[in-house]
Amino acid sequence: MLEHKRFLVTAALPYANGPKHIGHLAGAYIPSDVYVRYLRSLGKDVVFVCGSDEHGTAIPNQALKEHTTPKAIIDKYHALIRDCFAQLGMSFDIYHRTSEPIHHQTSQEIFKTLYNKGLLTEEVSEQYFDVTANTFLADRYIIGTCPKCGNPNAYGDQCEKCGSTLSPRELINPRSTLSGSAPVLKATKHWYLPLQHYEAWLSDWILKSHKDDWKVNVYGQCKSWIDAGLQPRAMTRDLDWGIKVPLPDAEGKVLYVWFDAPIGYISATRALFEELSSGTKKFATPQRSFAGATADDWKKYWQDEETRLVHFVGKDNIVFHCIIFPIMLHATGEFIVPDNVPANEFMNLEGDKMSTSRGWSIEMHEYLHDFADKPDVLRYALLTNLPETKDSEFTWKDFQAKNNNELVAIFGNFVNRALVLTQKYFGNQVPAPGVFTATDDKVLAELKAFPSRIGSSLENYRFREATAHLMDLARTGNKYLAETEPWKLAKSDMPRVGSILNIALQIAANMAIVAEPFLPFTARKLRDMLQQQPGHWAQAGSATLLDFGHKLGTPGLLFEKIDDTVIEAQIKKLNDSKKSMEPASQPGQTESATPVPPAKPAISFDDFQKMDIRVGTVTKAEPVEKSKKLLKLQVDTGIDTRTVMSGIAEHFTPEGIVGKQVTLLVNLAPRKIMGVESQGMILMAADKDGTLRLLQPNEKVSAGATVS
Ligand code: 2FM
Ligand code: ZN
Repeated sequence: MLEHKRFLVTAALPYANGPKHIGHLAGAYIPSDVYVRYLRSLGKDVVFVCGSDEHGTAIPNQALKEHTTPKAIIDKYHALIRDCFAQLGMSFDIYHRTSEPIHHQTSQEIFKTLYNKGLLTEEVSEQYFDVTANTFLADRYIIGTCPKCGNPNAYGDQCEKCGSTLSPRELINPRSTLSGSAPVLKATKHWYLPLQHYEAWLSDWILKSHKDDWKVNVYGQCKSWIDAGLQPRAMTRDLDWGIKVPLPDAEGKVLYVWFDAPIGYISATRALFEELSSGTKKFATPQRSFAGATADDWKKYWQDEETRLVHFVGKDNIVFHCIIFPIMLHATGEFIVPDNVPANEFMNLEGDKMSTSRGWSIEMHEYLHDFADKPDVLRYALLTNLPETKDSEFTWKDFQAKNNNELVAIFGNFVNRALVLTQKYFGNQVPAPGVFTATDDKVLAELKAFPSRIGSSLENYRFREATAHLMDLARTGNKYLAETEPWKLAKSDMPRVGSILNIALQIAANMAIVAEPFLPFTARKLRDMLQQQPGHWAQAGSATLLDFGHKLGTPGLLFEKIDDTVIEAQIKKLNDSKKSMEPASQPGQTESATPVPPAKPAISFDDFQKMDIRVGTVTKAEPVEKSKKLLKLQVDTGIDTRTVMSGIAEHFTPEGIVGKQVTLLVNLAPRKIMGVESQGMILMAADKDGTLRLLQPNEKVSAGATVS
């Protein structure tokens, strides 16, 4: 399985648009870390890269929500996520950022390579444009009524109520989240990667070559994509946040985030070797010696067929890592493609889908705040419950049970008994092994088999199974002590007690080696207690890891019990956080919890004061030819009587609006609408379902009354 000369392992680059939760850890991060730590323990040449995905509409979207800039968002969440990962023991050799110049350069180079080879097609299409904000609208910036379920606040790419994937043109009554106005269609040019040209290559590579070694869930998703036939996919976007398209006629266009993000793995590797060779450490956190590394060494990991490239991702990333990115890599003719993409399914939480926005999640930083000294407990609870073949479920009760009944009662208990008994009978020194009995031979034979059993599960990406084997090793140790009962022999046969404890301590020393990938903090504590040097996987299985007479450290507890009250508090916290995210609803209201458009960035009081808003009265109203939406109104503003074109025809009849008081922005620059000059704007409240209502004073006021 591991015959390759070197390994490059990637973990999906999380969007730096918010905190990440334990479902993300279970999807890509913890398994990748276990895998890499195992490879390192085998002495393999491995590089492990990750970092922040800092482009795409998710970032400016979050900036709007937090009333700040995209740059402030990525800086804040990059640091938060990076630090949480470190505290959870994620052992990346580098944690990079896609906002770094080296990444922009690498992405542009790859785009140019594809472009210069004539592999990208140019297409002009019509896309929604917000005239007020003077910008094309990314799918997420358009909301409207879902054609499938009628949700009035569906996004241009997806309806969060019914889950349908949508395109903006399918929305009924689309409106821009930037200005609230109805967007118009405008022609724009983009560069496409014709995925369909690579179908034969993909079939050969995935469907033929990886039928047996890729996970069923991953293979199945790839097969259905390929069988359905691939379409050209735009690799550029109209957006002002991202990597500029490196072509002369591409003003205002950036690379599609799914074009640049996976290239982030390459630029992170490049940055790692640049930092290693120059002796700087801005993003690099090398986990082994890279003596003699040169800046060009990144190429070996990406361009040499003897490298095994493995991408760890969650199931929503499969298509990008198995189809689109490999096509990009293959098409350049310069890069290797992944050997495997062992994607996991999703982890649910207490019976419901995990979601930060709905308050139903356990964020990494929250866990670390409440359980700062227990990173390994979370690693273990996730590892034993990974969504490897189907969605799985995290519950706080299960977390408690895994801690109390397995880590404390089996793993910790075994180690503690071996150490405390040695302290008691042998002054903390490893006793001499005597003549082995049949029981000893049996347990030593079992011990010998564990490392390859665990290793084989890991090599096949079966992390749950590997973790179960690890706990079985502790069980084996416990069973051995229970069978041999050294505490009963202490009065009659000390040499035999010495033999038994020698074997028990050897098992504990083996556990320190094979537990390291799974429970790195515990392994270190255990090594300290045993006064043992870090070991290699190849040494595991041995009955002679600790020499006779070796002085041990102080025995302590590896794990401590978690009380019911702690778990109950977590469950309450979760329920409270969900409630705090629910919109206040009126009794009897059946409307679903649909999102309202995000708040706009803050403005100054001076900005506000520039607006001259008055109360006026509609004196005349008539339909506008060829327009279903507009009414041509005459409004007495108190200052004058003026013409205002208003998009309210679907909500008011001309007769119904005449005589009504309205609020009106009178100093909006006049605009020609359908050939008529409109001299102001009537203010309306757009309800959730898109219905417009007049904003009126609650009692009649004189014409020209100011609004402030
Ligand atoms: O789904 C996500 O969170 C993406 N940011 C993953 C990107 S993985 C890679 F392509 F960078
Ligand atoms: Zn819907």
